[in-house]
Amino acid sequence: MNPLRSVGARLSLALLLVVAAALGLVYAAVAPSLENRLVDSRLNDLERSAPALAQQLVSNPFDPDFFESAATTANARVVLLRPLSRVPLTLSVVADSHGGASSADVRDDPLAQKTSSDLVPRRSTVSRGGERFAEVTIPVGRDGTVLLLSASLDRALGDVNLVKRRLLIAGGVVLALVFVVGYAGSWVFARRIRRLERAAERIADGMFDEPVTDLGNDEVGELARAFERMRRRLAQLDHARREFIANASHELRTPVFSLGGFLELLADEELDEDTRREFLTTMREQVERLEKLATELLDLSRLDAGHIDLDRETVALNEVARTAAEEFTAVALQSGHELEVTASTPVLAIADEQRTLQIARILVENAIVHTPDGTHVRIDAVEQRGRARLTISDDGPGIDEAEVSNVFERFYRVDGAQASGSGLGLAIARELVRLMGGSLELDRSAGRTAFVVTLAAAAAPEAGVSESATATSA
Ligand SMILES: Nc1ncnc2c1ncn2[C@@H]1O[C@H](COP(=O)(O)OP(=O)(O)OP(=O)(O)O)[C@@H](O)[C@H]1O
Ligand SMILES: [Mg+2]
Repeated sequence: MNPLRSVGARLSLALLLVVAAALGLVYAAVAPSLENRLVDSRLNDLERSAPALAQQLVSNPFDPDFFESAATTANARVVLLRPLSRVPLTLSVVADSHGGASSADVRDDPLAQKTSSDLVPRRSTVSRGGERFAEVTIPVGRDGTVLLLSASLDRALGDVNLVKRRLLIAGGVVLALVFVVGYAGSWVFARRIRRLERAAERIADGMFDEPVTDLGNDEVGELARAFERMRRRLAQLDHARREFIANASHELRTPVFSLGGFLELLADEELDEDTRREFLTTMREQVERLEKLATELLDLSRLDAGHIDLDRETVALNEVARTAAEEFTAVALQSGHELEVTASTPVLAIADEQRTLQIARILVENAIVHTPDGTHVRIDAVEQRGRARLTISDDGPGIDEAEVSNVFERFYRVDGAQASGSGLGLAIARELVRLMGGSLELDRSAGRTAFVVTLAAAAAPEAGVSESATATSA
């Protein structure tokens, strides 16, 4: 892989460039100005001393110690030059604080020559013999005699060069450090991101076992925790999906096998008419069971996919109670159950009428099929503190405390129950009630097994609402 494609390499390179640019800027700003200031300050010193020395020379031209003391005062070489000829201009050294032997070098000093010819004081730097000097010239009298103050800049510039060198070395060390720290930091960061990437790939491949861990408190840590929540949720959904498929296929297989068996038996021509009729009745029951299961599975898959549209209308729960009771009258008679509707006054809820009726059917059917003959089943509807309640209760053997939350699970049936269904009714009912903004609870407190559907009560009934609700459900 191209090394520059990694986030770590890019980040450390960017950091390196930024720091290098910053150091370059500092160097460019500091080094030349330091040099200029040093040269300037040397020239200023010389410039300050020059007029007084020229004056001193004019007033006392024969002082033998002048040049020595002047050199000490100005902390520079002090030379007096006088023109030998005008054209071409040739200067000769009259006196030099360094002593006459070494004075030849300043005879052609350009600054002295200019001042000698135009009598204007000057200041500048001059290179001589590979060395730089700060120089100031001042005319003495009007005959072209020039006093030259010359100070070597080598020591001062040497200091500047030392500072420059140290700046460069320090800059180099800082850059190396930045590179190492930047690369190491971004490598650690990139490694955490790669771990997340691998975790995402595992999840994408359907492997939900390995947790996603990152102990950091930064954004990557937050991302890892979000990934972990997603992994757990997906693992749950995956588990639920597998369980659902396994349960559903098991539930479908039983009646289909049974039907297959009966079909083979029916093919036996020796069968007498009574047995044949008995077989057909059982087969009809199995087909009904299959139909019911198919409807329930379809409802569940629609609920899971969010494809159930529910109306929000005013529903009279007392009428729903009555309709459900009417539908089960024959069944209850046959099984010897006593079915009673106690709701007398209108109880209005905001709900979907057909789905509310479906929920009532599920609960009434349970109260009949899961209880012994002679059980009393009551359907009631009341309004309490803004909530409308539909209660289906029975005085059958009831449901154990430990089973209370289980009975709402999909495919759950209580062991040794009176009758066996698919275990889907209560799961569907609870989901439907939840979608209507209500709740479905099992209440065992009053010595009866009571399933209570609680929904939002409809606003104060307008004239005619209860009648129209009655008409719809009738
Ligand atoms: N009124 C009740 N009295 C006693 N047990 C009940 C009652 N209602 C439900 N149960 C228990 O709760 C279990 C779950 O009920 P649920 O309606 O979900 O499924 P089911 O009736 O077994 O099957 P399905 O409704 O899908 O045909 C039942 O199998 C039964 O054991
Ligand atoms: Mg049921």
